[in-house]
Amino acid sequence: MTKNNNQTEVYWDSLYKAGLGAPRYPNGDAVRWLFGHFPRNRAKDFHILDMGTGMGRHAMLMAREGYQVTGTDISQTCLNQASAWAKAEGLDITFLQASADHQPFDEQIFDGIISYGVLYYLSLDKLTLAVKEIHRLLKSGGSAFVMVKSDRDIRLKKGDMISPHHYKISQHEVGMPWNNEVGMGLTLLPRAAIQNIFKEFSEIIIEETTSTLGNGKYMEAAWLIYAKK
Ligand SMILES: C[S@@+](CC[C@H](N)C(=O)[O-])C[C@H]1O[C@@H](n2cnc3c(N)ncnc32)[C@H](O)[C@@H]1O
Repeated sequence: MTKNNNQTEVYWDSLYKAGLGAPRYPNGDAVRWLFGHFPRNRAKDFHILDMGTGMGRHAMLMAREGYQVTGTDISQTCLNQASAWAKAEGLDITFLQASADHQPFDEQIFDGIISYGVLYYLSLDKLTLAVKEIHRLLKSGGSAFVMVKSDRDIRLKKGDMISPHHYKISQHEVGMPWNNEVGMGLTLLPRAAIQNIFKEFSEIIIEETTSTLGNGKYMEAAWLIYAKK
């Protein structure tokens, strides 16, 4: 399949239709953010948006814990799967198809927003709009947790630069996790650009997390962004 930069988001739907197995268990940093910002004993008081929910692993964790949860994603196929799994567990989650840069909600309705492993699939312009959406949708004092791959990630070297900070992944390599992304355009940003994009927030903490692949040959690197409105 041919995938150009503009098709990157649409391509996710094809991946899910082809049977992509998304992770079923929540990420540890996401769990720490959730319980660290929204006390479990008051879970029902908090409404949290999972932006780019995928198959809903974080949405379902939050709903199981009693939080009010809404999940959005560009792909209707993954939303159908997430919705079926949630229903099978008796979880009450609202799932809606929407792009991260244009969310169908009134302003200031969420206490928290998580977007884990999503926004680097958007072009730089759209990523910037998506962060504006996060700011618009959060209540004053609300908290966001965003994970995006960083410009130190191996994917940068496995792609061709097509515009500033935007890389079209071009190199397939057996067993490597970026194989699903060959042909997609990824936005891989340095710390200063992240700081600039999140400048509207009253507080921002940016941590970098790294790990290796291929017996130490390659590095995966991501920004963990904790932003308070
Ligand atoms: C790597 S998956 C992460 C899914 C989920 N957040 C998780 O942690 O399991 C990336 C997700 O981003 C979604 N996505 C890609 N572009 C998007 C966009 N413009 N708006 C919303 N979601 C998007 C894809 O459909 C996919 O479900």
